Amino acid sequence: MKIALLGYGIVGGGVYRIIEKRTDMKIKYVLDLREFPELGERLVHDFDTILNDPEVDTVAEAMGGLHPAYEFAIACLKAGKNYVTANKHLVSHYYTELTQAMKQSGVCLRCTAAVGGGIPWLINLERARRIDGISSLQGIMNGTTNYILDTMLHGSVSFADALAQAQELGYAEANPAADVDGLDIQRKLIISANVAYDCLLTESDVPTFGIRNITDGDIRTFTEAGYVCKLVAAALPTANGVAAWIEPTLLPARTMMAAVPANFNLISFVGENAGEQSFYGQGAGRFPTAYNLVQDCIDILGGAKGFYGSLGGRVEQGSHAHPYYVRTSAKSDWLDSITDHTLGDGIVTVPVSNLQMHDFMSSISGADPDAFMAGIR
Ligand code: HSE
Repeated sequence: MKIALLGYGIVGGGVYRIIEKRTDMKIKYVLDLREFPELGERLVHDFDTILNDPEVDTVAEAMGGLHPAYEFAIACLKAGKNYVTANKHLVSHYYTELTQAMKQSGVCLRCTAAVGGGIPWLINLERARRIDGISSLQGIMNGTTNYILDTMLHGSVSFADALAQAQELGYAEANPAADVDGLDIQRKLIISANVAYDCLLTESDVPTFGIRNITDGDIRTFTEAGYVCKLVAAALPTANGVAAWIEPTLLPARTMMAAVPANFNLISFVGENAGEQSFYGQGAGRFPTAYNLVQDCIDILGGAKGFYGSLGGRVEQGSHAHPYYVRTSAKSDWLDSITDHTLGDGIVTVPVSNLQMHDFMSSISGADPDAFMAGIR
């Protein structure tokens, strides 16, 4: 296999290190804007060198961002080159375009590293689907927010200080708002749900509420009530369509998800025969992410074709009802009507549709920009 590597940053450099020790694949080119004397003639600055070289059968992307990653991906797929990527924003946003281009040219598109870094999540979801319907999937899929919540819980550190630590440790996205406001985990959930349910979810199908507004006081209240708060992504098929959502979630303290430490991820599905299977590990970082990019290349060498799912089509947006904790100074008759009891500075609701609750939180964000809510399990 002759590979062109797009991007020689943290992850791209890791891919290079792993592949240079192998005999079944070779990196012919590395595309980067910067100079790296150690790469010699392999370093190129012009993407067309890669595109026009028929010897390059597989392109591995570790650049990130939507552009020019999207243009490069489409050009490679149309030119009949397999494409492996760690770029969750690219795959979730252009899912339809990329999978169509792949189908038309008969090559392979893989993005195992895009969800869960080094965790073998997507490939096992694909294997499960060969036999099982997936009755639900859920998980902690963002290391930065888990690090923040875990550090606030155990270190009595403020949100801002915990975020600064996560940035220093290199877990956060270039713009950490993508982590804190749930966009990074939303992209990972869209890819996972599309694979599990053969659907084509878009950002607007996935109500998303992040952890920006959580306070030390909220966390003290949750601890006293026997809960641990995690940012959880969840999806499941309902009678009307696929319900998929992202929200801070209060989990009983004695559960596996509640115990996930630091920047780790834990992602699970429930299959009709397999039952619950959970995947735990490093959801980010140079070598874990590079590992899954190289695994994708090995799978292609072994004959893997196409994408993970069977690429069904659009489905309706479903909803799911459960109780919520809500802390807000905004007045609302609707909130009063669904309130069951008070908890700390907030209230706990009766079970209510996630779509209604997310709409409500958007509607009060002007009146109370500090409002916080969390689903309760
Ligand atoms: N910022 C992401 C995280 C990186 O914290 O999980 C890996 O996708």
